[in-house]
Amino acid sequence: MGRLLTVFCARPVLDDRAHGRSRCQAPLPVVEVTSRHTPADAEVDGALEGPLPRSGVGADGVMDELTRLLIPNGSRFSDTGFWGFITAGPTTMPTVAGTAAAIASPQRYSITAFNRVEELSLEWLAELCQLSPRMKGVYVSGGSVANLVALGAARQWAFESAGLDPADSGLDGRPVAIYASSQVHHTVQRAAAVLGLGRQAVVEVATDTRQRLDPTGLAAALRDGDRAGRLPLAVVATVGTTNTGAIDPLRDAGELARAHGAWFHVDGAYGLVGILDERVSAAYDGLELADSVIVDPHKWLGAPVGVAATFVRDRSILHRAFAQGPADYLEGSFVRDGDIRSSLDTMGIPYADLALELSSPARGVMVWAILRELGRDGVRARIVADNDLARRVARLAGDHPRLEALTQPQLSVACLRYVGGDGDPDEVNERLLRRLQRESPFLPSATVVGGRFAIRPCFINARTTPEQVDDFVATVVRFGDEDRTAGHGGAVVGT
Ligand SMILES: Cc1ncc(COP(=O)(O)O)c(C=O)c1O
Repeated sequence: MGRLLTVFCARPVLDDRAHGRSRCQAPLPVVEVTSRHTPADAEVDGALEGPLPRSGVGADGVMDELTRLLIPNGSRFSDTGFWGFITAGPTTMPTVAGTAAAIASPQRYSITAFNRVEELSLEWLAELCQLSPRMKGVYVSGGSVANLVALGAARQWAFESAGLDPADSGLDGRPVAIYASSQVHHTVQRAAAVLGLGRQAVVEVATDTRQRLDPTGLAAALRDGDRAGRLPLAVVATVGTTNTGAIDPLRDAGELARAHGAWFHVDGAYGLVGILDERVSAAYDGLELADSVIVDPHKWLGAPVGVAATFVRDRSILHRAFAQGPADYLEGSFVRDGDIRSSLDTMGIPYADLALELSSPARGVMVWAILRELGRDGVRARIVADNDLARRVARLAGDHPRLEALTQPQLSVACLRYVGGDGDPDEVNERLLRRLQRESPFLPSATVVGGRFAIRPCFINARTTPEQVDDFVATVVRFGDEDRTAGHGGAVVGT
């Protein structure tokens, strides 16, 4: 264990930005590790192929291969300039906490300190995100499953209201509708498919010029759905859309959901914690109308991948939707008379019946570690700093004659593009993105804004600095200028 932590903490990219106050304190030997662009190294290629070994190399051999072959050739997601999608390497404390839990409390059930912080951290997370104290949560593996669980609750509620228990007897084939903006994360469509509602149940509503759900369009879609006899299962609003970080108008969406008898779900996988930035918190007005809310600590809070939470007003609906039902191998193993004396006398809060997993890691300890380490103020400082980075990119791009800012960021996503070339700007910027990813320390991803290809950095990486952001913008300009010199449509210099 000690050795494994040494390896984790020795990775320089696990040093977090100074205001995060989360450097490894222990005097650990420094192993110089930098991620290569691809694991094309001949040594790696040879070593990571071949048949199942007949006899093992032992723990020392595995440690050697981990440190020599795998860790140095890991993903660039932990690089300080990684700003793609909505993901980044985790910070140190939750990584250590998760590793500790894997050993000290490998399952979240049974009465342990880890089980206690599962609930405590959910309460803290709800408070951090300014949810009503009535909202109770459950951890799952990520935003995909968190949305699925929330929409599973919505399905249960909608069909129960219509006199049917879908968890017990299945669906009755009646047409349903889930209303969301065209910018909604596509895990919502997948959840609809998995829940037996069909992807086509998701009705996409147009957005305004800032990529936010248009309430007039939503009202019209709900009216059309009602007229067509579709059961209004849910309205989904997003706080922090994946493409541009837009925040949908929650009050309008929530009130329309209420008026049409639909469940109101808020997908805050990325942006729920953005409420901490007082410059944008007014945009979260109406959050209290939500019947369910999700947030991914493995995004902006810096937890290792595998931690999201679904919050609902009343966890009993999750139980009705997801309980496994009594089983001798479980119930028979715990006390029946309430006389709890040892950790194995009970499973504790039955999280296993509130979502999809029986076996599950204790995830709350990672969130607990983040919130213990930073407190609300430390988290807020990170959120504000990241939003500043996106605004900085937008300002620099807006001020530059050969760049265009495609959005005015609400949160920490910026969308820009080079417009000084002669060719099709979409093609130019696609080439620039490839070059950035292959040749520079900056790793944004892309999106399309209003039909235009955009280079899209999303700042949730606790180790990014404003100087890097300035360098990034300067690099986009340089690559763009070189692309023009090379002759658009021809080979890009260096690729
Ligand atoms: C708004 C939103 N919802 C849901 C998801 C899915 O989350 P995950 O990747 O954790 O499954 C994402 C992922 O980026 C997201 O941005």
